[in-house]
Amino acid sequence: MTGRPAAGSRAACAARPGLIDRHDLVAALDRAAGKQVTIISAPAGSGKTSLLQAWAERAGQQRRIAFMSVRPGQHDAQLFWLALLGAVRVATGGAEPPPAAPGFNGQAMVDKVRSELAASGGPFVLIIDDLHELSSAEAAGQLTALLTSLPPGVHAVVATRRDLPLRLHQLRLAGELAEIRAAQLRFTENETRELLSAAGLTLPDPVLAMLHQRTEGWAAGLRLAVLSLDGNPNPERFVAEFSGNDRTVAEYLMAEMLDRQPPEVQRLLLRTSLLDQGQRRAGRRTPRWSPTSSTPSTAAARATPPLPGRPRSSARASCACCATCRPISPGPRSPGSCRSR
Ligand SMILES: Nc1ncnc2c1ncn2[C@@H]1O[C@H](COP(=O)(O)OP(=O)(O)OP(=O)(O)O)[C@@H](O)[C@H]1O
Ligand SMILES: [Mg+2]
Repeated sequence: MTGRPAAGSRAACAARPGLIDRHDLVAALDRAAGKQVTIISAPAGSGKTSLLQAWAERAGQQRRIAFMSVRPGQHDAQLFWLALLGAVRVATGGAEPPPAAPGFNGQAMVDKVRSELAASGGPFVLIIDDLHELSSAEAAGQLTALLTSLPPGVHAVVATRRDLPLRLHQLRLAGELAEIRAAQLRFTENETRELLSAAGLTLPDPVLAMLHQRTEGWAAGLRLAVLSLDGNPNPERFVAEFSGNDRTVAEYLMAEMLDRQPPEVQRLLLRTSLLDQGQRRAGRRTPRWSPTSSTPSTAAARATPPLPGRPRSSARASCACCATCRPISPGPRSPGSCRSR
């Protein structure tokens, strides 16, 4: 049982054709639903929304589900809460929430949402996608209050591109917080094969393995590769050359990351990436997909704030040991993950 997306939220509930079944992750979400809150934290294009859609829309889903996507650049606490209340009411069959009005009382809104969730009866899941778009500290604090005091039978799933200061440590200590991160969302080699085969493509095993390595199982990168491979007369060469410099990858990152930065940040990133170009011309050997490389797409990758507790350099650490590894995914990499050593 799934609620329709709230008015003003992105259409996020309809199951999309062409999604491959990621049953291990769906099962992980099922297990996580036994806790109070699940956080899915992974970079752009990791497959967070697709997974949530697949989980929410699968046949036999017994839970009532409210699905909301935070609007891009949402900085208004009241609008955030009205959208959330709207998503809950779509799922419960309640009336449309009132329009925004002066004198917004955040605590009263948290209480209202909590009591409507409590009255929903039966297992209920509140999914909040794209929470990284919320820039209101006030709303984030109010959301923490809700997430840490959900009524029995209510589970919340929050998906975000980066960790947010939600102060959920008490839930973590109590064993009530489940977390799914980039490493778990990476496509396995088998899933990569399935994705290709769903598009009517097959690759020899070593080429498939190389594609998987180049993309690091990054869902969006694999999807872009599949689109480029379709009808490509020389798939092996394409995969060998597929990298962060690939036009489709660059365009994706431009659209998803750089374009969303404020103009002054865009200017700074593009200016410093030109600086890097000068350094490269001066003979410095730089891996193609590193925080210091010159493509706009890597400037975009750098635009992703570092995860809390992690220095910026490792938040987008690239292959520092060689120029051949050339991973394309925008996420954090573990030290020593270079497979070409
Ligand atoms: N299960 C899947 N089967 C096929 N393709 C998938 C699957 N999951 C993700 N993808 C591909 O990866 C792309 C990115 O996935 P998705 O939009 O879910 O990522 P995301 O983590 O929500 O990104 P963002 O942070 O930008 O919202 C999708 O458009 C789709 O092409
Ligand atoms: Mg998404």
